[in-house]
Amino acid sequence: MRRLLVVGNWKMNGSSAENTELLASMLTQSGNLGDNVDLAVCAPFVYLSSVAKQLENSRIAAGGQDVSVHVSGAYTGEISAAMLADMDCRYAIVGHSERRQYHHESNLLVAQKALSAIQGGLTPIICVGESLEQRESNTTLSVIGEQLQAVKSVLGSQGLEKSVIAYEPVWAIGTGLTATPEQAQEVHQFIRQQLGEVADGVSILYGGSVKAANAKELFSQADIDGALVGGASLNADEFINIANAV
Ligand code: PGA
Repeated sequence: MRRLLVVGNWKMNGSSAENTELLASMLTQSGNLGDNVDLAVCAPFVYLSSVAKQLENSRIAAGGQDVSVHVSGAYTGEISAAMLADMDCRYAIVGHSERRQYHHESNLLVAQKALSAIQGGLTPIICVGESLEQRESNTTLSVIGEQLQAVKSVLGSQGLEKSVIAYEPVWAIGTGLTATPEQAQEVHQFIRQQLGEVADGVSILYGGSVKAANAKELFSQADIDGALVGGASLNADEFINIANAV
């Protein structure tokens, strides 16, 4: 179902002590949020068990930052969807641009990871987005169209309906540059059109230097259903203020 959702992507940051403090502050402040918004944090794998325990019975869900395409077996270093579900995770990010770029993940692999996540009982947060070069050469929509096409053909409508899409322009991630609300809306609207019959049931998040100061403007756009937040999710006040802006 199309719900408002704000997800923190901690990336490779934190420690046991820092996480405990950050979550404690998020939990205290999240009590004042309206119940129209769902919250999640995607922590590094090694901390997920303790993160999920601290978040138990709270309104903040836990998620992984990636998931294996495989179910089990001889895949050193990989983490399966069932393992994440076993740790009480609800979400797994797939296809983040940092994985597409540094780990050479293809559109097909990302789509297959999304399927693994669904089959393991998780909601995949499927990231799509264009590079600066692609935006400047006016290929944004065709690049995103191809990324989505792979997802559609592997998941079908049934799988898409169980997914969340995150539009993250690569040039806006961690750079302090944000797409203007109009630039973001143009792509979000395009993504929604591509989702076909399930379009109205799928949440589409925006990601890329989202902070409390720009969240409201972004969320005022018709097809923006929340945010995938990197840097600002390492600060409880910022993260909760972003959720408040929804
Ligand atoms: P950022 O990261 O908010 O730090 O730009 C977003 C993301 O990579 O998901």
